[in-house]
Amino acid sequence: MELKVQQDALNLEAEILVVGLSRHPENTKGWSEFSERFNGKLEEWTKQELSFDLNASTTYPTLSGSIPRVLFVGLNDRKKLTEDDVRTAFGQVGKELLKKKIKHAAVYLDSFQNDSISAEDAAYLAAEGIGMGTYRFDDYKTSSNEADVQLESLTLLTQEDADEVQASAFIGQVFGQSVNEARSLVNMPGNLLTATALADYAQELGETYGFETDILGKAELEELGMGAILAVNQGSVEEPRLIVLKYKATDSFDNPLALVGKGITFDTGGYSLKPKDGIVGMKGDMGGAAAVLGAMKIIGELQPEKNVVAVIASTDNMVSGNAFKPDDVITSLSGKTIEILNTDAEGRLVLADSVTYAKQMGATHIIDVATLTGGVIVALGNDKTGALTNDEGFFETFMEAALETGEFVWRLPLTERDKKRIRKSDVADLNNSPGRDGHMIFGGGFVGEFAENTPWIHLDIAGTSHAASPHDLGPQGGTGAMVRTLAMMVEKMAEEQ
Ligand code: BES
Ligand code: ZN
Ligand code: ZN
Repeated sequence: MELKVQQDALNLEAEILVVGLSRHPENTKGWSEFSERFNGKLEEWTKQELSFDLNASTTYPTLSGSIPRVLFVGLNDRKKLTEDDVRTAFGQVGKELLKKKIKHAAVYLDSFQNDSISAEDAAYLAAEGIGMGTYRFDDYKTSSNEADVQLESLTLLTQEDADEVQASAFIGQVFGQSVNEARSLVNMPGNLLTATALADYAQELGETYGFETDILGKAELEELGMGAILAVNQGSVEEPRLIVLKYKATDSFDNPLALVGKGITFDTGGYSLKPKDGIVGMKGDMGGAAAVLGAMKIIGELQPEKNVVAVIASTDNMVSGNAFKPDDVITSLSGKTIEILNTDAEGRLVLADSVTYAKQMGATHIIDVATLTGGVIVALGNDKTGALTNDEGFFETFMEAALETGEFVWRLPLTERDKKRIRKSDVADLNNSPGRDGHMIFGGGFVGEFAENTPWIHLDIAGTSHAASPHDLGPQGGTGAMVRTLAMMVEKMAEEQ
């Protein structure tokens, strides 16, 4: 999608023009000049029965050749509009443009502004929201997607500084595109997106952005002693991969932040087999890996001043004569031994070795992201990401990032009593499934045992990584949850140092 910024309303051309409709449109910057563009008709239309309700949209034919249609989006009282409202409105606009098969759209940017939302903010939100809203997965139907039309250009009409608006829109576009790539990874089936294929994708990303890339195969994992990842992979005919991407803001690579993602390409549950209804959809069990890769794409594009290492452990979790079983005792990379009580609690195992690996790489801060437990869905629903942390200050910064991106994150407690239950085993240092009560906490808390004293945040996206039905910012399927917030967190840490 090509982004353009234009200040001259009179010579604007597009298949459709998007206008934010608030109670007093005449207070919009440049309104009269703009209205002239339609021979004063705009005024007339806004007095018709258009809905001012937030996100209600009405399309109006203009009988003008250069802008044949206007799409009004309800903004209600513009003074009260938040960034989240505007992002949502643009997400809806994106969906509308997709439905109408629009190739060239324009947005009257200044109609989305108020005292707290500048033209640059609105530009960022427009590019991001429309980018996400127009997402569609290239599926495998033989009747093909070829006939589907994609948005090719978006022109932002504004009276403000064109360069600044353009720069800000570019950032929004990068955010939106990276979310969409993560969505596609989540939507890919497990037979096509194997650990090897995921690693190939990461390798390509590394080449595009100049990341130092390390892809470790089974033999290397064995050599290093990554017994937890290997145990999960034991029943598979597919090789595991440990994917490591380094973004070096400084040559010395001081104090890197580690982004650790769960990359289970399909989770059968193993011998603790999932019921037939619970197994469908488990191709999405690499949502954490997708979030990390999406964030790395943003980081590669925008080059923040912060060292980052991405670590993703990828394998499927299968059953076979070789598979690991309940009662097995395994030795992790950290040296800690683990009693397996449930082979379906495999995510925490691959994360454990990944977190240890990240620490060995010198990570001074760790964020792990994973579709880890059904427990988080029971606790918070499908629209909130659950979090745990061992560091208040680090988490506070993270919540600021989440507030900016509008991704809802809620922290759960992790108490000493919880940790005791994770450490309870007659035969090993830890057990991988202390119980079903509050098990989001046990899942994340288990990973925390490997972070030890390194400032750490755990994000459980089992609910948020996938949407059962279309939502404000996109269609049913992979959502790209946490892509934007992870990248925003890196930006914040770059600013802080
Ligand atoms: N991948 C699942 C978690 C999950 C559930 C993701 C629903 C997306 C939607 C994870 O590996 C798992 O099976 N967790 C178990 C843990 C239990 C055995 C302690 C769960 O949540 O039931
Ligand atoms: Zn599982
Ligand atoms: Zn899983």
